[in-house]
Amino acid sequence: MRIDILTLFPEVFASHLNCSIIKRAQDEGLIQIVMTDIRDFAADSYRKVDDKPYGGGPGMVMMPGPVFDCFEHVLKLSQEKARTILLTPQGKTFNQAKALELSAEKRLILIAGKYEGFDERIRTGLDTEQISIGDYILNGGELAAMVIIDATVRLLSGALGDEDSARDDSFSDGLLEYPQYTRPEVFRGMKVPDILLSGNHKKIAEWRKQQSIERTKKNRPDLLDPEKDK
Ligand code: ADE
Repeated sequence: MRIDILTLFPEVFASHLNCSIIKRAQDEGLIQIVMTDIRDFAADSYRKVDDKPYGGGPGMVMMPGPVFDCFEHVLKLSQEKARTILLTPQGKTFNQAKALELSAEKRLILIAGKYEGFDERIRTGLDTEQISIGDYILNGGELAAMVIIDATVRLLSGALGDEDSARDDSFSDGLLEYPQYTRPEVFRGMKVPDILLSGNHKKIAEWRKQQSIERTKKNRPDLLDPEKDK
């Protein structure tokens, strides 16, 4: 998978993308991440990419010119057909099902903007899907882009050491994950449930499913609501 990121702050991505699973996925050629600085497409020598909003109001709005020029440049960097995502709190909320859907793509283009907003023509004039990572306002789309990359890349076949660990994640079957334990058997008086030490795999699977359901009912009943994605 190729992931292009259009951003005003390429440096923000360095530490996260160069660690752990994302780094390994790049080293092994599973993904290629290419950063492009929107400011390089500014029309003036001040590298101006935003301006005051027409009609007045606080803050600065990202100008369409540099974003369109940057996007058109990035599109041409690869022949692969791309799915383009605009990170914005106005988008549809990201979730595990969307991560799974994106993990099937050959190429993603992620556009991270400033918090104060985009000129509306960026939204309407580029063929993008709008995604939010939650109902709060970040200073820019960079962290949102990293969240999407992180959740998506770990679902690529071969990205995790153990294929099963993504399959059993919370949300992968619409439920929260069951409780997990490791050594020691007793820690500060807290004991690992006997069932997990029983060696009875069928019973363990049943117990885990039941725990998942109970935990989801208690902590996230909204996930069990059949109307939730409507
Ligand atoms: N940009 C600013 N806030 C955001 C959010 N919650 N999700 C995606 N992009 C954003």
